[in-house]
Amino acid sequence: MRTLIKHVLVSTEPKESLTVNGWVRTRRDSKGFSFLELNDGSCLANLQIVVDAATPGYDRITEFTTGASAAITGRLVASPAQGQKWELHATQLELIGIADATYPLQKKGHTPEFMRSIGHLRPRSNLYGAIFRLRSKLAFAVHEFFQSRDFVYVHTPIITASDCEGAGEMFRVTTLKGKPDDQPESDFFGKKTFLTVSGQLEGETFACALSNIYTFGPTFRAENSNTARHAAEFWMIEPEMAFCDLRGDMDLAEEFIKSLAKYALEHCAEDMAFFAKFVDKGLNERLKFVIERPFIRVPYTEAVEILLKSGKKFEYPVSYGQNLQSEHERFLTEEHFKSPTTVFNYPREIKPFYMRVNDDGKTVTAMDVLVPGIGEVIGGAQREERPDVLMQQMAFHKLNPADYSWYADLRKYGTVPHAGFGLGFERLLMFVSGVSNIRDVIPFARTPGNAEF
Ligand code: 4AD
Ligand code: MG
Repeated sequence: MRTLIKHVLVSTEPKESLTVNGWVRTRRDSKGFSFLELNDGSCLANLQIVVDAATPGYDRITEFTTGASAAITGRLVASPAQGQKWELHATQLELIGIADATYPLQKKGHTPEFMRSIGHLRPRSNLYGAIFRLRSKLAFAVHEFFQSRDFVYVHTPIITASDCEGAGEMFRVTTLKGKPDDQPESDFFGKKTFLTVSGQLEGETFACALSNIYTFGPTFRAENSNTARHAAEFWMIEPEMAFCDLRGDMDLAEEFIKSLAKYALEHCAEDMAFFAKFVDKGLNERLKFVIERPFIRVPYTEAVEILLKSGKKFEYPVSYGQNLQSEHERFLTEEHFKSPTTVFNYPREIKPFYMRVNDDGKTVTAMDVLVPGIGEVIGGAQREERPDVLMQQMAFHKLNPADYSWYADLRKYGTVPHAGFGLGFERLLMFVSGVSNIRDVIPFARTPGNAEF
């Protein structure tokens, strides 16, 4: 395999001959010499290349423009320049692919809006390179977190017939032309099917057999909310634990968020330093704070009282029985508690059917983890394990029990208390990087009116 620039930059000794590949970031010509900054995306830093005019291949030096691709052989020597340990003195230049003057990524900064319009080229920029390296590392960290605790990774289906969250915000999957609702039985699967909004229900069946499981995959929501934190296609991580209650669920959620923040600081130091310098000046301090302190835990009723007493003017009024809006969540975590906050025991009406009903008969064992800058990153609950109460919950939420007979069977045969949650992977990435729009942490974002690339 070829040598990546990331590995070249941490060399411990000079090398007589080395070939690197990459894309030209900049070129500077002076009398008898040129300087190239080469980047291959393996890390943020460029490798500086010094090219003597006598080097074979130098006749095409003016074509080594920003965006062009090249293979360069040379001697790796200690660099006299500040801020870099090594530079390459070229002995052979090879231009692989030119990039003409229309190459849109020039040195001056570009707006995120412009960068989204060139989604196929934006990974070549410093910021997006850093974001997508972080995304990759944290995906690995998710698996490491659960695998090291012996959770079993379950691939739940992407095509499903059940609406886990009961919000009806599902994308239809059909092969029928015309009106698929008129003849669902002649559709591909013989029934109405959709892209999944959550792997939870299927995940529960595996937790009720293998104890501790997690899912990690794409989920889809046809919510028409054009906000900086909603996408139509996003990735969710959903652990589910058998013989576990709400408290154990909250404990795992907190440990998970802390562990991912810590992993990023330890394993993505260069990219994290870039975010702290150019994206969010308070990033390091915030993450340290999150890692070191226990999260605040507050029942929904108390959270509503705090909001009502705050004297703050909210766009959406606060009242018991309503869902918390993003502005309310952010007030709690950013202004009131100044800490990540887990709100629990929500009114039964505003949460899905599968959540366990509390003894008061009015609330369910739901919990949402709110973090500064984002609001909700995790939604979870202890599940209703009592067969009779589950039936009442289905009736209460106007669901057809026949559609969920397999789910009810888990309560019929060896039922156990169990609990889990879903973490929105993109929201976590926003939190860890300080990037404020979800469109910028997804390689190719799908949002209302937009499925480019
Ligand atoms: O709170 P939600 O809807 O919970 C569930 O789906 C449960 N079935 C999870 C479970 O208990 N296993 O979604 C979970 C998380 C949210 O907290 C949020 O971080 C993220 O998924 N999320 C979205 N992220 C981006 N775009 C959207 N449209 C999102 N909707 C939810
Ligand atoms: Mg939620």
